[in-house]
Amino acid sequence: MSVLDLFKLDGKVALVTGAGQGIGRAYALALAEAGADVAVADINERTGRHVADEIVALGRRSVFVKTDVTRPEEVEALVTATVAELGGLDVAVNNAWAGGRYVTPPPAEEFPLEEWDFIMNLALRAIFVSCKAEARAMRQRGRGKIVNMASMSASIANAAVAYCSAKAGVVMLTKRLAAEWGKYNINVNCISPSYTLSPARRTDSEENRELIRSLHPMGWHERPEDLCGTLVYLASDASNYVTGRDIVVDGGHTLNVWLRPLTREMPPLVSPEDEVRSLVHDLEILGIPHDDRGVTLE
Ligand SMILES: NC(=O)c1ccc[n+]([C@@H]2O[C@H](COP(=O)([O-])OP(=O)(O)OC[C@H]3O[C@@H](n4cnc5c(N)ncnc54)[C@H](O)[C@@H]3O)[C@@H](O)[C@H]2O)c1
Repeated sequence: MSVLDLFKLDGKVALVTGAGQGIGRAYALALAEAGADVAVADINERTGRHVADEIVALGRRSVFVKTDVTRPEEVEALVTATVAELGGLDVAVNNAWAGGRYVTPPPAEEFPLEEWDFIMNLALRAIFVSCKAEARAMRQRGRGKIVNMASMSASIANAAVAYCSAKAGVVMLTKRLAAEWGKYNINVNCISPSYTLSPARRTDSEENRELIRSLHPMGWHERPEDLCGTLVYLASDASNYVTGRDIVVDGGHTLNVWLRPLTREMPPLVSPEDEVRSLVHDLEILGIPHDDRGVTLE
């Protein structure tokens, strides 16, 4: 087998939660392009069905399963439907999130407990619930790959107090499950992006995006597709000896605490126009008015 063959997912069955838009949509399409049949799970039926259709157009099988990942019985039903409709479960990507909750998060000393509970439930508890159901299905196969979505906010204090805390929890949950489930040949890893141009960041001004570019050594604003190579690697046999790891895909942002905008010797590999293609696609499907840079006009 050549080394490139290790990355192929032909014959594999994957599921992705929160796959109707943003990073989850990019992941679902990337897994399908790599050869997998993909179950699309989302709370939003319209966007989820659209992505399932896109996967079928790529020549793979797909099923949309309307799922609220905060409801354990719906997560069980998602795994059951994936196994029944697509024939098993090899790869599970736990990605769902209700992005764009604040322009500025409330200060920690006033952070509402209901909001804390909402975020912990969706960003941490639901991932544990999902991993449990997925691992049971993977045990039947004798192997599997679980990829959880963490964030650079697991290791730097840049976002709402509950979000940073939940994401740090995802990183440790991933390690703990990896330690326990190696005996079933299940790898559990997580991915931590920087600021990524999904609909979750649709209210960001062009000025703020420019600031973000200037604080990333690679010089462009992260896109969902910038995460897909890592995802396919973690989903494939190429990563069979990698488990319990958090792969930070952040363009170098968290390497240092930059005191001033970074200087460049040459243009970045991705232009501002190329940064927004996936975001603009998603805003069109969601019916959210926006300008040609994907900044919402609401
Ligand atoms: N965008 C960023 O800057 C960024 C940075 C770091 C980490 N992340 C992480 O990446 C992941 C994806 O983020 P995104 O920016 O694409 O988010 P997004 O908000 O654009 O998309 C999230 C998707 O999850 C779905 N969803 C929401 N609640 C759900 C529920 N209860 N059950 C099922 N589906 C639900 C939404 O309908 C949507 O399709 C998240 O885990 C997020 O925390 C994002």
